[in-house]
Amino acid sequence: MSQYPATYDAWQSDPIGFWEDAGKEIDWFAPATSVFNKDSGAYGRWFDGATCNTCYNCVDRHVEEGHGDRQAVIYDSPVTDTVERYTYGELKDHVSGLAHVLRGLGVEKGDRVVIYMPMVPQAVFAMLACARLGAVHSVVFGGFAPQELATRIDDAAPKVIISASCGIEPGRVIAYKPLLDEAIELSTNKPDHCVILQRDTLRCDLTLDRDVDYDQAVNAAILAGEGTECVPVLATDPLYILYTSGTTGQPKGVVRDNGGHMVALKWTMENHYGVKPGEVFWAASDVGWVVGHSYICYGPLLHGAATVVYEGKPVGTPDAGAFWRVIQDHGVVALFTAPTAFRAIKKVDPKGALIADYDLSSFRTLFLAGERSDPATIEWAQAKLDRPVIDHWWQTELGWAMSGNPVGLGAFPIKLGSPGKPMPGYDIHVLDDEGHPVPAGTLGNIVCKLPLPPSGFPTLWNAPERFISSYMAEYPGYYATSDAGIVDEDGYVFIMARTDDIINVAGHRLSTGAMEEVIASHPDIAECAVVGKGDALKGQMPLGLFVTNDGAGRDASELELELVKLVRAKIGAVAAFKCAVEVKRLPKTRSGKVLRGTVQKIADGQSYKMPAAIDDPVILDEISAALSARDLIGQVT
Ligand code: COA
Ligand code: AMP
Repeated sequence: MSQYPATYDAWQSDPIGFWEDAGKEIDWFAPATSVFNKDSGAYGRWFDGATCNTCYNCVDRHVEEGHGDRQAVIYDSPVTDTVERYTYGELKDHVSGLAHVLRGLGVEKGDRVVIYMPMVPQAVFAMLACARLGAVHSVVFGGFAPQELATRIDDAAPKVIISASCGIEPGRVIAYKPLLDEAIELSTNKPDHCVILQRDTLRCDLTLDRDVDYDQAVNAAILAGEGTECVPVLATDPLYILYTSGTTGQPKGVVRDNGGHMVALKWTMENHYGVKPGEVFWAASDVGWVVGHSYICYGPLLHGAATVVYEGKPVGTPDAGAFWRVIQDHGVVALFTAPTAFRAIKKVDPKGALIADYDLSSFRTLFLAGERSDPATIEWAQAKLDRPVIDHWWQTELGWAMSGNPVGLGAFPIKLGSPGKPMPGYDIHVLDDEGHPVPAGTLGNIVCKLPLPPSGFPTLWNAPERFISSYMAEYPGYYATSDAGIVDEDGYVFIMARTDDIINVAGHRLSTGAMEEVIASHPDIAECAVVGKGDALKGQMPLGLFVTNDGAGRDASELELELVKLVRAKIGAVAAFKCAVEVKRLPKTRSGKVLRGTVQKIADGQSYKMPAAIDDPVILDEISAALSARDLIGQVT
């Protein structure tokens, strides 16, 4: 029998008592003066007045409790043929040593540190070292281009940037240092120092005055026995800023606090993921995304479990058996990844034949999130792995699942296509565009009644008004998720689409608005639109339509190549922008709004209703003809 209904009821009848109880799992330096202070912040603050340190709870307390020899971080890198294991004791040395180095470079409580790293354990050490000092980290995904990094540097204004000489993607080595130097060149807020991890695959010159060699500095600190204590911070102080795509090119700096974040993540480890301290948990994501923050770094370590830092892909490093090998080699009990990773495996090894080559006896549960899990992928994974496959629904803004199926409390029956039911803390409603509740089973805007639970973001960095206008203003009293979906008569949530211009490519959240800004900056482009076209592997892929300036006289395919290159140079490879089609005109409403939704339907080969306010319906035929000429109608397989 699942304990979910009783647990959700317990939260509903006493939300503050529920989180106060969960908070007992955290070691506080001083307790909260108010577990929930409704008069603080935009909608209240959790664990107000408490002091704590997230690094202390992730590292030191396990060592003090006698678990210094327990494994904490497992680095598995098929791209460099490396496996390294760090115990909690070793983790403390590395983190404390790096914190000492950072402090020596002037980093104090409240200062920002940008981390631009590949999937190496030092990325996790860097996050924890910041937390140890009470400094605020901002991790930037390695697939972003210098311009995007520069935007984040300017907004966060870091004192120090921690990076590496290179990242390694299958078939190519990415020299990070020139990208970093270019980003700093482009930015106004220059950091005082850059701490660079030299990797043997491709070393870099550390000739600038601001450059510091990571290993040299940290090893010297460790050898000299230099470390740092955990600096007490307020539970409501920021732990990190994580930039995520919004509706414009300017990314949103989601702020996460210390106290509520720890309480929520610790609760999920046991109750949602069903993992015990000492077991091995693996989130096959990247530290640059929220899943990486919560479940490569903080969640497992708060819980005293081991985490896997995997520098590889589901396929091609070296084959579609990579995930099974990692599970076997490290005794992984739960794997968390995006459905796209499973679609990639299924494409290469449709029969799942490679699974039989590995001993998966430790493995209990597969968790999927980051994008809609299509039923075919879930069914394939269930059948091949013969284990529960749990879809759960996430957003960067919240830091943990808003809906799911808590295996620790006993899973309830799965409905294919649904990421489960609301988690304690989330009072989820579906409203129509006027803000009225819709009947069960009806599509609408998914919102969450305020207050958000612990770990929910209190604001956007440097943008408190945007926080209100983007999330709180549309449905007063509710947090607008920007997801459209359904809650059915049994309380299951179904997420169907975004209501804004965000698209989801291989589990990565991308703004089509940001891509349009880049395309529109090309001198030959008059106007453009980018939509997310259905893709069998990545879920969606960006598709660009462009209109050239009168008299531009450009060859369309040449221009397309330039636009593809431009988006890659300005946003980064992660945008996966590979296709742009010239059209004569864009379809618009009479008030001039581009009908992106209709274009997307045409591209996906779906039927559409003629928009009532369309300016000139003939344009839709022109779009169909242009896409059809390129064989771009219907899902790409
Ligand atoms: N640094 C630099 N470049 C990166 C990068 C990084 N950390 N991560 C990805 N890229 C590059 C890729 O090499 C690719 O470049 P290309 O256009 O030259 O091939 C591009 O960015 C797009 O990457 P991606 O969309 O991830 O496609 P892919 O073909 O490399 O891999 C999958 C496809 C499905 C295997 C991959 O997306 C994956 O493993 N996804 C797992 C899910 C996941 O991590 N989700 C995140 C949220 S949970
Ligand atoms: P991110 O902030 O990058 O985690 O992306 C959040 C968005 O990804 C959500 O708003 C959803 O649109 C989508 N998403 C995440 N998890 C799921 C899921 N399990 N099912 C459907 N969509 C999801």
